[in-house]
Amino acid sequence: MSSHGTPIPMMSAPCGALSGVADVPGDKSISHRSLILGAMAVGETRITGLLEGEDVLDTARAMRAFGADVERDEDGTWRVHGVGVGGFAEPDQVIDCGNSGTGVRLIMGAMATCPISATFTGDASLNKRPMARVTDPLALFGAEAVGRSGGRLPMTIVGAADPMPVRYRVPVPSAQVKSAVLLAGLNAPGKTVVIEKEATRDHSERMLAGFGAEIATEETDEGRVITLTGQPELQPQVIAVPRDPSSAAFPVCAALIVPGSDVLVPGIGLNPTRAGLFTTLREMGADLTYENEREEGGEPVADLRARFSPAMKGIDVPPERAASMIDEYPVLSVVAGFADGVTMMRGVRELRVKESDRIDAMATGLRANGVDVEEGEDWWSVTGHGPGSVKGGATCASHLDHRIAMSFMVMGMAAQQPVSVDDGGPIATSFPIFEPLMQRLGAALSRHPA
Ligand code: S3P
Repeated sequence: MSSHGTPIPMMSAPCGALSGVADVPGDKSISHRSLILGAMAVGETRITGLLEGEDVLDTARAMRAFGADVERDEDGTWRVHGVGVGGFAEPDQVIDCGNSGTGVRLIMGAMATCPISATFTGDASLNKRPMARVTDPLALFGAEAVGRSGGRLPMTIVGAADPMPVRYRVPVPSAQVKSAVLLAGLNAPGKTVVIEKEATRDHSERMLAGFGAEIATEETDEGRVITLTGQPELQPQVIAVPRDPSSAAFPVCAALIVPGSDVLVPGIGLNPTRAGLFTTLREMGADLTYENEREEGGEPVADLRARFSPAMKGIDVPPERAASMIDEYPVLSVVAGFADGVTMMRGVRELRVKESDRIDAMATGLRANGVDVEEGEDWWSVTGHGPGSVKGGATCASHLDHRIAMSFMVMGMAAQQPVSVDDGGPIATSFPIFEPLMQRLGAALSRHPA
């Protein structure tokens, strides 16, 4: 279901070879940050390639509520007139971030050092997710948070009128927490320092530097130490958002498991903090190549070519790679079902607090479709028996989670029997063109009545 809609049951039937070009949408992480940083700059930021999924559209609406002028031209260019660091106005309505943990956590950070209050809410999935991971560090700046039990939305943040800079060691590997602290640090005087033990996606650091903030990252024995100098005047930017590797994952993985497939996915961001899935697939023996490698908008980019790969083997995915592929484990677990042997995924506790408990959601659906899965609190493993071995035939619950829904749709393309999901609506949060794009490649996706 979309955050406001009725469930959309979907089915994916076994299909012939997938072929053609898959133009996937813009990167979700970079899209959120483009709007938020644009709103904190002085002057007009122009953004092309913005992901127009529900999550990002909710962030655009939120930025308007905080006083920025956000418009979309007919040609798809977005223009954001920012209000400057510390210039957010107090919203006169509740901020509804829909399904988006990234949206709500980054926006909470951005407003927490402004002398205003704001109340945040979301859909049934977002309102279950932990927010203390951001409100704890925001309290160090002087912000106060009042929410539901367990630190859950709906929640009001009272921004710090007289913020102090902080030094904060992020206790969980989370780019959202790191980014919330950095965005809060923008309006604190002096230097805000964030330390992360494991490197997580670094779009905020790259983009803050691009907007003219003074920010430095140092690799030390205690991890990555990121130092931001507060109260800069951010300069508006012209941003071309690269295409999302997390969305590319779906046509790529589908091509690897559907016999005869050959799919090109152009212009994919391959920032090393995001590209762990592709490294893993190649280690499994996937026929996945990078063509035309280049740099666009400060991010490494390539065209990905994925062909049917009948000889993939299960592997141990190194736990230190988890952060660079955290959103891709659901679809990797599907590929693992078509590989030969055990794929072991460790160090993935964070999967339990995403849009759904992704280990539980995938394990339940995989088992219902005849795949062997074992799981513990922070690990899971899938045992595959090679191409064509997955029975399929079951209906899986998507738990308001776009990546769960898309993963099971990919599985249906190569299983013996169709695979269904109870609700494909959440796909629109990150990949609104998933259905027509996959159908053009040859997938047999359909919507069917509940
Ligand atoms: C994101 C960070 C990750 C990821 C999410 C996007 C971001 O979440 O799962 O889809 O844009 O910063 P965590 O920070 O919770 O790991």
